[in-house]
Amino acid sequence: MQNFRVIVLSAAATALLAVTGAQAQSSKSGEQVYKEVCMVCHAAGVANAPKFGDKKAWTPLIAEGQHVLTAHAWVGVRAMPPKGGNPNLSLQEFSNAVAYMARAAGGTWKDPDAAMLKKIQVEEQARIKSLNTKK
Ligand code: HEC
Repeated sequence: MQNFRVIVLSAAATALLAVTGAQAQSSKSGEQVYKEVCMVCHAAGVANAPKFGDKKAWTPLIAEGQHVLTAHAWVGVRAMPPKGGNPNLSLQEFSNAVAYMARAAGGTWKDPDAAMLKKIQVEEQARIKSLNTKK
């Protein structure tokens, strides 16, 4: 009987893990990702990170276009670590955060839909290729 209880309990724990795992998979909002991951650098402008809400810093970045800027940041740019340093972020979540930061600096970018995500992925591949050939 004792053993049975242990089995039931561990099954329940496994089920719980499965549920929280599934939640981690569903996309976080840009604001949430920004606060959890990006803010540490982008609030104060650590290592020259473009500051949150700084229109002057963001205007030329926004001009690069959503798929280009998002893909480059996702791959990593100089002191900006790939995926903002958090390998658990999905591309959707990361892109939501970029769009959120762009909006905070006067941009009109929406959280990317499937078509925009596809464009970001194409640009990501092109960027990786060009970085590799430079080495
Ligand atoms: C460890 C600090 C750090 C974290 C964390 C970080 N960034 Fe950055 N980010 C930087 C720095 C530094 C730059 C400026 C890079 C440069 O131009 O030299 C930058 C630049 C950028 C740019 C502009 C890229 C370009 O092409 O100039 C975007 C977009 C960006 N970050 C998005 C994000 C997002 C989204 C997150 C969170 C998911 C994030 N960053 C987390 C440090 C950080």
